[in-house]
Amino acid sequence: MSKKALLEIDGKKYELPIIKGTEGEVAIDISKLRAMTGGVITMDPGFKNTGSCHSDITFLDGEKGILKYRGYAIEELAEKKSFLDVAYLLIFGDLPTKEELDTFVSDIKDESMVNEEMKDILDGFPRAAHPMGVLSALTSALTSFNPSSVNVSSDKDLYKAVVKIMAKFPLLASWTYRKNQGYPMNYADNSKGYVENILQMMFRIPTEKYKCSSTVINALDQLLILHADHEQNCSTSTVRIVGSSHAGLFASISAGVSALWGPLHGGANQAVIEMLDEISNDGGDVDKFILKAKDKSDPFRLMGFGHRVYKNFDPRATIIKKAADDLLKELNIEDPTLKIAEKLEKIALEDEYFKSRNLYPNVDFYSGIIYKALGIPSEMFTVMFAIGRLPGWIAQWKEMRANQEPIGRPRQLYQGKVDRTIK
Ligand code: SDX
Repeated sequence: MSKKALLEIDGKKYELPIIKGTEGEVAIDISKLRAMTGGVITMDPGFKNTGSCHSDITFLDGEKGILKYRGYAIEELAEKKSFLDVAYLLIFGDLPTKEELDTFVSDIKDESMVNEEMKDILDGFPRAAHPMGVLSALTSALTSFNPSSVNVSSDKDLYKAVVKIMAKFPLLASWTYRKNQGYPMNYADNSKGYVENILQMMFRIPTEKYKCSSTVINALDQLLILHADHEQNCSTSTVRIVGSSHAGLFASISAGVSALWGPLHGGANQAVIEMLDEISNDGGDVDKFILKAKDKSDPFRLMGFGHRVYKNFDPRATIIKKAADDLLKELNIEDPTLKIAEKLEKIALEDEYFKSRNLYPNVDFYSGIIYKALGIPSEMFTVMFAIGRLPGWIAQWKEMRANQEPIGRPRQLYQGKVDRTIK
């Protein structure tokens, strides 16, 4: 592989360095392009061909359907480790020893309360407010109650900000559900594990002792692992670019929650279940909806299908599909939407339109089936995605600040009117 890329503009030749990643990816370094050429830039809407950073955290191979966190295959992590093990791995770079994990868990439990005045903010929302909008606002508000978590200049300050957000984010997430349902707010129960605690904060009713099976806890734990990071996706890039202005960790994550909300990104898991329900209520005619998805004049898209990077099976979808099957069998649940999903997948994977565009089921296609089986309502699906993605956002923000990356500020090509004067 040559070390230089050659560029010729108006007969003038330029050499640009070629750089390689540890997994063999190749990039042309254009960081000096504008200076070398007297102002020429590249254009790449959606950054489909543009790398924004060097990262040690997550590797994806879209052609081979490979996903690794800090070098470990997602399949192995999902099978052998807990969500907090994986959160520690993403944030600090290595899997924790037992002592390290115990300390991490204990430090998180020490931060599991939020200021009671946060409820005044919650009260300001209408009950029907979408939980993702409430979660973004509450996450940003955390900054006001934890000012020391903004300018984290030392590792110690950063660690404190990390355990604070790891502890308080799921509590606030549960409050968005409780508010939406008109229920009283719950608090963390520090006698429970991290994932069981999420479920009890969401579902415990004051008049009953909360119990849930290890099957449910393990299914959610695995789902959170599968959502924990995904390199420079839309919401993670948002967290990095907001953090690059030296905005605090909580404010940056609040921006990431808003980006994840969109139906083309994390909001797709809710859109998938709504689509499957629409197909079911419309009589289950899957072919009719496949035609709609292919019809350019119809805005309908097959939600949960397609991916910017995976041009093969999303490895997470494969794991989630099996977990959905196993969970429904263990809980003895018959879910007609699973049958519709499987039929939709089968037809789409044999259809030339989807095959020619490398459109496969992604992480969101089956995750809603599991959330539904766990009793989580569809408007909370993307909030669950956010809880899973939290360690990834933290890890990526931490890396961006540790690498002292410059403020993110893309260029543009102006195509507007020129030299106008006021008459
Ligand atoms: C997530 O980036 C990440 O890593 C994200 C994520 C993560 O973990 O952070 O993996 C999580 O966001 C998964 C994606 C969830 N979104 C959906 O399921 C929504 C449905 N899918 C899409 O809208 C779409 O596939 C995207 C947004 C995911 C990717 O869009 P791209 O890469 O910009 O591709 P595109 O829109 O340019 O589509 C290429 C072609 C187009 O057709 P042509 O113009 O070539 O004729 O494929 C078509 C599109 O119309 N197409 C679809 C389709 N997705 C793409 N047609 C029908 N149904 C679809 N779902």
